Amino acid sequence: MGISILGMGRYVPDQVLKNDDFTRFIETDDEWIRTRTGIIERPMAGWEPTWYMGKQAALRAIEAAGIDPAKIGLVISCTATSDFHTPSMASVIQHEIGAISAAAFDMNAACSGFVYATDTARRFLETDDTLKYVLVVATEALSRFLDFNDRSSCILFGDGAAAVVLEKSDKLYSSALCSDGSGASLLCARALSVAPEVAQDKEFNDPFPKAPLHKLQQNGKEVYKFAVQALPKSFELAAEKVSITKDDIDWFVPHQANIRIIETAAKKLDAPMEKFIVTLDHYGNTSSASIPLALCESIEKGIIKRGQKLALIGFGAGLTYGGIILEY
Ligand code: UT7
Repeated sequence: MGISILGMGRYVPDQVLKNDDFTRFIETDDEWIRTRTGIIERPMAGWEPTWYMGKQAALRAIEAAGIDPAKIGLVISCTATSDFHTPSMASVIQHEIGAISAAAFDMNAACSGFVYATDTARRFLETDDTLKYVLVVATEALSRFLDFNDRSSCILFGDGAAAVVLEKSDKLYSSALCSDGSGASLLCARALSVAPEVAQDKEFNDPFPKAPLHKLQQNGKEVYKFAVQALPKSFELAAEKVSITKDDIDWFVPHQANIRIIETAAKKLDAPMEKFIVTLDHYGNTSSASIPLALCESIEKGIIKRGQKLALIGFGAGLTYGGIILEY
């Protein structure tokens, strides 16, 4: 069983941080950021809550789908940057959009979150006949977790949200979800409450970076090496289940982390870069929101059309990765 994308919506904050803006507080320059990452500017949420951005994207997705929010049976929010440890973003958004009959929960697979959540949505639709619509909301405020003294990470990320209304269908669908937890310490942000005790206790042999607490820490080089393997593998694992090749795919929608990662993945797959959707130049890396933002923008611009075959491929902290092949 497959899924049908009934409607999508996106929301990004008005405030934008351009590459040159970083030169006010770190040693960097526009050329380094452009050539090493492909990013030119990224939206920044300020104190706009994560749930608020998700709500705006969800309302737009519901409008595009033309459905009654009361008929949504499940809301899944795939955020790594929740406003709260509890309640979930999904519960807050469920109330805000009037999805009064929906179950709601968050899931965190970091930047692979949208792939994980969409595949989870499909499994719910397959096993529950009473479920008509599922809403997946990817909403992220990375800027709140960034160490703006760390020039190798703070220039990479942006804030934003995108949402999709799904229903079951018999269209083409395949997926593969993967994780390699041995790389967990390569990209992480500690929760404040437990960090000092755990980090200092020798018995735990804690492998995670020590400071600064609750800020994003990453080993960029190692994550890069992982990413250029994970992206093509995500496609190949999903593709082999349905005997599809890269030539059957109209559009690859990869996680938007670094243009060099996408170019390397395209080379490894022997697929032309023209088939890869790229939006990181103006969004930066918005974690779980990056794939649906790219997808939604391309649909709105008429680049991605009904009937075309898509490969959504992601990777992120965890280290997680995964792919979905579907027909739009
Ligand atoms: O969703 C997943 C999120 N994470 C990723 O996808 C990250 C994957 N990794 C990357 O994208 C890249 O590794 C980075 C963009 C983070 C770094 O690019 P790189 O080409 O691997 O640079 P590097 O770490 O090898 O650093 C090269 C030089 C260093 O200087 P020295 O030691 O050669 O003097 C860095 O200190 O570039 C320096 N550098 C910068 N210079 C100017 C690092 N960041 C900056 C900066 N501006 N912002």
